[in-house]
Amino acid sequence: MPLVSMAPMLRQARANRYGIAAYNMIDFNSARAIIDGAADLDAPVIVQVSVKTVKHWGYAHIATWVRMLANDVATPVALHLDHCTDIDVIRRCIDAGWTSVMFDGSALPFADNLEKSVQVYGLTEAAGVGLEAEIGAIGGVEDDKVVNDDASRLADFDECVKFVAEMPNLAVFAPAIGTAHGFYKGEAKIAYGLLDRITAAISTPIALHGGTGLTDDQFHRCIAAGCGKVNISTMHKRLFIEGFVNLKAERPRLEEPLPFISAQHAAMKADVMTCIRTFGSAGRAAEAAHAA
Ligand code: 13P
Repeated sequence: MPLVSMAPMLRQARANRYGIAAYNMIDFNSARAIIDGAADLDAPVIVQVSVKTVKHWGYAHIATWVRMLANDVATPVALHLDHCTDIDVIRRCIDAGWTSVMFDGSALPFADNLEKSVQVYGLTEAAGVGLEAEIGAIGGVEDDKVVNDDASRLADFDECVKFVAEMPNLAVFAPAIGTAHGFYKGEAKIAYGLLDRITAAISTPIALHGGTGLTDDQFHRCIAAGCGKVNISTMHKRLFIEGFVNLKAERPRLEEPLPFISAQHAAMKADVMTCIRTFGSAGRAAEAAHAA
């Protein structure tokens, strides 16, 4: 089916207490693995793209690949731009056919983040695409952005309320709740109390960033609290590389590239399917498509 906006399907996910997987694609094969995994489980899915990846392949190529893959399946697929600080990149993605974008003003002082986010909200509302916006500072490494432990900062509850009140149609809100991008050095310390206060006060679906390495329990707890969008990037990148490397280790004389592409696709797709089952979105394609 044609690409859909993530906003209505995330509202549905939050209301029905499941999470929609949002995977960062790397190339065509990785986007295919995400969409194939979702289609096999009848699950809605979000293909998101880091700014570096957009710039590497080009706006039109990515939009064309994902649109083409989505058209081949009956499950709803949204194309989303992950953490972006540059309004020009956001504009170009909207023009190229992205169905949602994230403006990440979290490095700015609150008032500036709010002002810029509201400016981008004006753009996305006019274009009819969804917006994700963040406050607090999510730790770890995502794209070219590095937030070390000292700089990571939980979202402030009062600021969360003020922020979302200015953007009533926000597709998804990303408050920093203690998760981090990349592999965790121990167990993630999630501020469940803060998450519960936020979801009690705000009906916007919440994005759970830093999905790689969270336990099933942590996923279930956050999704039950209202995290409708669950982001996974680092594990997908690892499997992208391991798909090739493991096959080469097993069959060092193999020179034909297609088995490597297939091994890579299988490794990424299997993880997508595991996560979708964990997040509870298997079998939700029809209701998500209906919402969209
Ligand atoms: P991980 O890289 O930890 O999976 O986090 C992904 C993410 O939150 C992308 O924004």
